[in-house]
Amino acid sequence: MLVALSGTPGTGKTAVSNLLQKKGYPVISLNEIAIKNGFISGIDKKRNSKILDIKKLNEYVYKNYASGDLVFIEGHAAHFLNSAEKVILLRCHPEKLKKRLEKKGWNKEKVKENIEAEALDVILCEAVEYFPEDSIFEIDTSNKTIESISESIVEIIKSNFKPIKKYNIGKIDWSEEIFKDF
Ligand SMILES: Nc1ncnc2c1ncn2[C@@H]1O[C@H](COP(=O)(O)OP(=O)(O)OP(=O)(O)O)[C@@H](O)[C@H]1O
Ligand SMILES: [Mg+2]
Repeated sequence: MLVALSGTPGTGKTAVSNLLQKKGYPVISLNEIAIKNGFISGIDKKRNSKILDIKKLNEYVYKNYASGDLVFIEGHAAHFLNSAEKVILLRCHPEKLKKRLEKKGWNKEKVKENIEAEALDVILCEAVEYFPEDSIFEIDTSNKTIESISESIVEIIKSNFKPIKKYNIGKIDWSEEIFKDF
């Protein structure tokens, strides 16, 4: 069973994945698979980043992981993989996300683009196009440690991915943040 772990850059996908792995849950990285297998369909010149070939990635993960035991696939495009059965989205308040992305050394434009996307629920909107609402879980990580986020994910695993009210989608509304001058 494949579970997508997605979220805007900086929301903690990789940090949480490392901890999940330590706890014995297998996690694969969408970026690593894409690079290793050449599933790159182009270069986004404006953003100086690789464009992932989602179709090929989806076929690959379907063939290799979909029918087996629980595996997480992490990456900010993981919610585009419809071979996943469930999606966990990590969310982070735009103010906090801004600090994290600045710390990463990202330029002002790239930081702004991503915190606006987080404020406007862009990844959630994309995910609901591919998945039924009750297959999507949202975790607000703004005031959580990496350990506590991993515990929330373990809670979701242990309840067999049945909907849990506190992780239902639609609870987060950071739309007002868009009016702030980032
Ligand atoms: N809940 C948290 N509390 C404190 N620091 C955090 C938290 N989540 C992430 N961080 C820190 O923020 C930074 C970005 O996290 P991380 O690299 O895991 O994000 P990501 O979602 O994998 O981003 P990308 O999509 O760019 O790969 C790291 O330095 C990480 O340690
Ligand atoms: Mg990452």
